[in-house]
Formats: sequence, C-alpha cells, structure tokens
Amino acid sequence: MSDIKIKEAPAADEQARPILTHERSLSRKIARGSEAGDILDQQMAMLGIQLVTQLNVLIKTSRIYERTNTALDKPVDAMLTLIKTMTHDHPITLRLQNDFLFLGDSHLKVNAQQMAVATSIIDTLNAWKIGGMTFALAAESKDLREFAALFVSLDPDNKSIEDLRNEITARGIAGIELEEQRQLDVRERPGTEANTGPDGTKSADPKLQRKIGAKNGYAKVAGSVGALMQSVRGGGTVSFKQAKRAIQNIVDLMMDDEATVLGLTTLRCHDEYTHNHSVNVSLLSIALANRAGYPKVELADLGLAALFHDLGKSTIPIEILNKPGEFTDDDWVAMRKHPTEGVLSLTKLRGITNLPGRMAAASFEHHMNLDFSGYPKLTVPWALSLTGRILTIADCYDAMTSSRVYRREPMSPSKVLNMMFSKSGKAFDAVLLKLFVNCVGIIPIGSLVMLETNELAVVLKPTIDKANAERPFVKVITDPQGNPVDQGREIDLTEKVETGDFRHNIIRLIDNTEYKFDTSRYFV
Ligand SMILES: [Fe+2]
Ligand SMILES: [Fe+2]
Repeated sequence: MSDIKIKEAPAADEQARPILTHERSLSRKIARGSEAGDILDQQMAMLGIQLVTQLNVLIKTSRIYERTNTALDKPVDAMLTLIKTMTHDHPITLRLQNDFLFLGDSHLKVNAQQMAVATSIIDTLNAWKIGGMTFALAAESKDLREFAALFVSLDPDNKSIEDLRNEITARGIAGIELEEQRQLDVRERPGTEANTGPDGTKSADPKLQRKIGAKNGYAKVAGSVGALMQSVRGGGTVSFKQAKRAIQNIVDLMMDDEATVLGLTTLRCHDEYTHNHSVNVSLLSIALANRAGYPKVELADLGLAALFHDLGKSTIPIEILNKPGEFTDDDWVAMRKHPTEGVLSLTKLRGITNLPGRMAAASFEHHMNLDFSGYPKLTVPWALSLTGRILTIADCYDAMTSSRVYRREPMSPSKVLNMMFSKSGKAFDAVLLKLFVNCVGIIPIGSLVMLETNELAVVLKPTIDKANAERPFVKVITDPQGNPVDQGREIDLTEKVETGDFRHNIIRLIDNTEYKFDTSRYFV
C-alpha cells in the first residue's frame, strides 16, 4: 500500500519519506548523492556484504554436507532472501576486480570483522579465475544447492571456469551465471569511485619501482594494523614485530622519496578495510617529525605510536563506528573515550612488555589540542608531548580530508589546511603546522588544480623553492575538454620562459571532492 502512496506523493514528500525498504526501483527515483540515495546505497552495500557472507557459508557447508542435508537449509534460505531482496528487475552481480569486491559497479567496503570472509571469497573466486557471479530471481533452492555442490566437487587446478559453466548448463542450474576475470583499465570519470589495483608492474623504471615499493610498503603496514586491531578486539595476543618492520620500511622509503610516500595518503577507496586512516596518520606524522628534527632512529617508533593512536576505537561498538549519518550525544560520549581507552588497551596488550611513553601519548593526547579545547578534559595541569602535538596535526588533516572519520563528506586538502591555519597557535602548534605545510605544500599533495590551458592537473609534490610555494609539481590528468589522459605531462610550475614569466599557471583550485576524483592513482 505504501508503494502507491509514494508514487502519488509530490516529489518533495517523496524525498522526505523515510526510505526503510530495500525496494530497488526506488533507487531510480532518488537523486544520486542525495541523502536518501546515500541510505539506499548503504543498504545495498550492507546487503552485498551479507551476500558475500552467506555465499561463503554456503560454500563452506557444502564442502562438508550433501546438497540435500538440512545443514544447508539456513545458508540457502538466507541466500534466496538476499537475492529476492536485491534483484528487483535485474539480476545482481558480485564482482571481483584486482582483489576488490564489487556489487555491480559499487565497491564493497569491508571492515576488519568482515575481512576474513571477504578474503575467503576473493581467494575462492581467484582460484577459479571468476570475475563475477550473477544471481537472478530464477534461482531456487535446488539451484543453489546444486551449484554449491558442483562448485566444491570440482578442482580449480585442473578444471576451468568454462568447465564449470558447462556443468551448470548440463545440470540445468537456473539463475546463476559466471563471468570471467578481466583486468579492467580503470578510468576516472567524475562521479565514479576509482579502485587502485596493481597494474603496470613490468617496467624497470627506477621511479616506477620506487612507487611500487612504496605502495607495497603501505599495504604491508595497513595489513599489520588490520591484523592487530582484529586481535585486540578478539582479546588475542599481539605482535608488534610485523608492524615495526613494516614501519621501518616506510621510514626508509620516505628518506628516499617523501613525496611518493605522502602521495599514498591520498588513497581514498579502501575504507577501514585497510585502516588507511591509521596508516596515513603514521606516514604524515613521520614526515612532520622528520622535518621537526626528530631523531631519525626514533622515527619508526613514532610511526608505530601513530599507527595505534586510535587503538581505543577497538573498544567502541562497530555499530557506532560504522553508523551512517550523525552521531547521537551518547555515541559522542563513547567516541570521546577512545583516547583513554586506547591507553588502557595498550597496557593490556601482551605483545609489549613495557608501554612506551610515546605510544601512550599518541593515544591519550591526539584529540586534546594545544589549547586543551579538545578531549579528554583534565583536572590536572598537563604538558602536551611533541608526539601529541605532531599527532594532533596529522590526525586532524587526514580525518578531515578523508570521508571515513567522523564526517561523511571529505573536504579538499586546501580547505582543510585553511581551516587548520585559522586555528594555528590555538588548537595546533604554530611551528609544527608551518612545517606540516612544507611537507604537504600550500596546495597540498593530491589537490586538483586547473591550469590556464584548461587542463586539470593533480599536485604531486610541493616545490622546494620557498618563494614560490604556491607553485607545486603537478601531473596533467585531463585534456582541455576534461577528458582523462593517460601518461600526462609532469610540470614544474616554477619553470619560467625566457621573458621571466612562468611557463604555466594555476587558474583555480578544484574541489576534488566535488568531482569525486580519486587522485591517488597518479601516485601509485
Ligand atoms: Fe582519534
Ligand atoms: Fe584518528
């Protein structure tokens, strides 16, 4: 009944109506990017994760039980319900591309808890070189059972996806289709979320190799944070060794090529899955500390402390952390406890015998602010450590430029810097903030700019020429008409022509959040 009402209601009402349904057709009535559209997308994403989970259960159960066994009832029913809910008038496809899962074209963001399941499905699909699994309404209980039994009875080592497909047809399994894997060339278009998979690893170009090294280093650090956070939540033992080694590697890379490593912090598409925020804060902290004259041998320790500055969040219920939309007052009370909870968690970790002060400071002080306007509030006098001051800047910068921490909408890097400058000497240490700008640039790494030729370019690194700080190194990424170009020119904006004028000029800053450009691919 409510459907009819929705159709008759005027457009404005339609938008205001709470969308508590998974009815797919609604998605076409709702503007993309609108709040209602976001909710629908989130619902589909949640259902997508459930589909992955149930598929995993179904495959695992089928390895143990016959297709008619009642043990299969639950996963089969769950899968059928999901398929029914998600396929309105067209089938749904679970895709795998460059080791990322997609529902249709949307990247399925996976949190730490869901990581094991996602990895299991990714491995299974990879073993078969399956790029996509499509489920249609025609699929019934017997089809799912038959398919799962078939799937686990064949060995991907000596059978191909083609054999699997032939068997599907031969056995009359309806509603399930398989797609082959393809390594798609990822093109950035406004309004799409890019994914950054490994590509072009064949060149012997030292610059490219450095970039690949940096990206792998980043992935290793991210992996170790993921593993650690998960084991903290699970109450298990923790080994910092792996994380320490990974961070030391990052410090070495950074000494070689700071800009490339910092470019990695613009990675925006992995969500919590790879714990980008923690890794980014760690990288930014190391770079800032290095410029602040922090002893080189201690940079890795600082990086490690920074990596776990949000460890206390592992005590906050996932429902609050992943909550779409605004936090309630109670949620905020829970959130504000994470710095102190972090210190408590650190002391309980069995992997560290004595808690380094730096680690405690990173967790305890990172939201305090220089003027103590933040939290936790203390009743005793307190002196902020250098680590705490560095962390406050790195944390705020990454949290504001990314969409994952606290806010749904990210801000462009230069807007964030402007905002931070307005609080220089108040929330942030003024000297450190200046040094920070030297790291990321006045027009920060990852910013989009329009050149006077109308070409769009992405900022790769700040210039060393202090007098021309607003003239960074950029890479052209579109032609004057806005079409993406591959292998665009790299331009040093401080370069001059014979007359003494600059060869190229920026005419305006582009808000990359507006264009939804993922600029990270230009670094890696
Ligand atoms: Fe935090
Ligand atoms: Fe943080």
